[in-house]
Amino acid sequence: MPTISKKGQLMPQSPIRKLVPFAEQAVKEGKSIYYLNIGQPDIKTPEIALQAVKDSNIEVLAYSRSEGSEIYRQKISAYYKKHDIHVSHIDIIVTTGGSEALLFAFGSIMDVDDEIIIPEPFYANYNGFSTASGVNVVPVISKIEDNFALPPIEEFEKLITPKTKAILICNPGNPTGYLYSKEEIQKLAAIVKKHDLFLIADEVYREFAYDGNTHYSVMQEAGLDEYAIMIDSVSKRYSMCGARIGCLVSKNKSVIQTALKFAQARLSPPTLAQIASEAALETPQSYFDDVIEEYVDRRNILISELQKIDGVKVAKPKGAFYCIAELPVKNSDDFAQWLLEDFDVDGETVMVAPAGGFYSTPGVGLNQIRIAYVLKKESLIKAVNVLKEALKVYKD
Ligand SMILES: Cc1ncc(COP(=O)(O)O)c(C=O)c1O
Repeated sequence: MPTISKKGQLMPQSPIRKLVPFAEQAVKEGKSIYYLNIGQPDIKTPEIALQAVKDSNIEVLAYSRSEGSEIYRQKISAYYKKHDIHVSHIDIIVTTGGSEALLFAFGSIMDVDDEIIIPEPFYANYNGFSTASGVNVVPVISKIEDNFALPPIEEFEKLITPKTKAILICNPGNPTGYLYSKEEIQKLAAIVKKHDLFLIADEVYREFAYDGNTHYSVMQEAGLDEYAIMIDSVSKRYSMCGARIGCLVSKNKSVIQTALKFAQARLSPPTLAQIASEAALETPQSYFDDVIEEYVDRRNILISELQKIDGVKVAKPKGAFYCIAELPVKNSDDFAQWLLEDFDVDGETVMVAPAGGFYSTPGVGLNQIRIAYVLKKESLIKAVNVLKEALKVYKD
């Protein structure tokens, strides 16, 4: 009998998607579901991006360059300039989503059994990318009581071993919505320089910074050229998750040369989606202003409704479109499944992501869920009401 690899067996299921069969069954049984589990925005993709694909008169849908089309990379570099990030197109490799950029970054800087320090809770697929790369995640816990602020630097230093190669942050954070301050980035910069580590910053939610806070990129921090690797994506910025376009950005020439070899092995990023992504760069600021206003309203409603429920604790997100909520339940995996299988309010239920999968420390976060506020305000209110009613009757 042929056997599955150990790595394959170790690959974690996505906590965001693992309950899909139960949701499908619930729908078959006639329930309607508020999907709060996945960061798939309901916001419209900019028309200009969709139109560019319709207008393209391509006769042969050819491969592009492995590092992505030059003109697109030049335009990305101009976009970054507007955000005070000064990189050239040669510092950019276009990838098939931010996901592939993360895989290329891991592959370029880490060997099997190397270690990466990540503040947790973190984007669940970091566990999957680490397993796929044979890399060990060393978590440093950020707490809901502290609103998920960066843990003290001493906590990072305690975890550094000869195998540590990098620190990975997500800014603004999925699943916490935490936005790192300039001072926090500077503390991380000092530590990576002191210990010769890479600082990978997943900045796919850059635009989603609220309450007058501005996002501070690792690429803005002086002296980090050899250390910083930025991960980016069009998925959330332009509500173009299905385009599958992202990029890896670094001023470190060896990182780019190495990542390019990974890029060559998979030939090229998708051609039509690069056309859409290039056009999306023309999206007017008013689009973002409207989108941000909408997310701030949604966040405010979601948080205030959640705070009204007895026993629920929630940290107020400063960015992105997720929050972690602590519930008066023992095991949110069971609770989330029960919501789909056994509960409804007038035929409606909710799908949430159990937060245990956003931690790598076993047993942590089991009473938490991640909520993506990607639905309209009215739906969010109804969805939280379903949660409230569910918590009244749920027995662990
Ligand atoms: C923090 C973070 N990084 C990366 C990704 C990957 O996005 P994509 O591969 O669609 O660019 C996601 C998707 O949800 C995310 O939330």
